[in-house]
Amino acid sequence: MNAADRIEIVIVDDEAELAREGAARISAVLTDAARHAESASVALAGGSTPRELYRQLAALRDLPWPQLHLFWSDERCVPPDHPESNYRMARETLLSGAPVAADRVHRIHGEEAPAAAAESYDATLRQVLADGGRLDLVLLGMGEDGHVASLFPEHAVLEEKSRWAAPVTGPGIEPPRVTLTLPALNAAKQVMIVVAGPWKTKALRSVLGNAASPLPAARVCPSEKLTWLLDRAAATGEL
Ligand code: 6PG
Repeated sequence: MNAADRIEIVIVDDEAELAREGAARISAVLTDAARHAESASVALAGGSTPRELYRQLAALRDLPWPQLHLFWSDERCVPPDHPESNYRMARETLLSGAPVAADRVHRIHGEEAPAAAAESYDATLRQVLADGGRLDLVLLGMGEDGHVASLFPEHAVLEEKSRWAAPVTGPGIEPPRVTLTLPALNAAKQVMIVVAGPWKTKALRSVLGNAASPLPAARVCPSEKLTWLLDRAAATGEL
């Protein structure tokens, strides 16, 4: 199967439908993964787009919650109760309403220095996950500049070849971040990128169906399936 055959593009009417459809699809992927193994793993996206999706997911009682390991796609180097913390966002929208076992919640320690937080997160991924750190599902959002997780255009971290997690620092990156790397995203079985709003259309047009695009999102190519879940405004550029 070539890379294009592993991509599905799903367009829904609006953000409410995006949340419902996203939650249903995530539930199906994780339920299937848990059927074939003792546990299933998902890395959660930050940003604002997945908020309602996480609320919907928390309400799905059929998910194999006790079998799930939860990770994050990226994190800002701030304490876990900081308003910019991706862990905090997931705690408020998902963890607070779902029966997840505390010892299966593997947050990135944003309160630590970026290099130390990345190193310990990398070690956790390798310890917890079978297959040397391969996630069943990674959720991502996409920025207007085509970044995913904390993989920003032209940043040196895009050339990482071996680590699953890396620090992201440099001009304009404040606070510093820790991110899953392209090797981690592309070793994952599935990735779902959730995108809403007409301000994302330009980046989408550069990325979709264009393997030569220089944008980070175009370099995401997981081993089994990449799903783009878009609302109509993002797909068309019209509100
Ligand atoms: C973060 C993520 C980032 C995010 C996109 C989309 O902000 O934590 O690093 O990759 O998913 O910037 O963000 P929105 O969903 O807020 O548009």
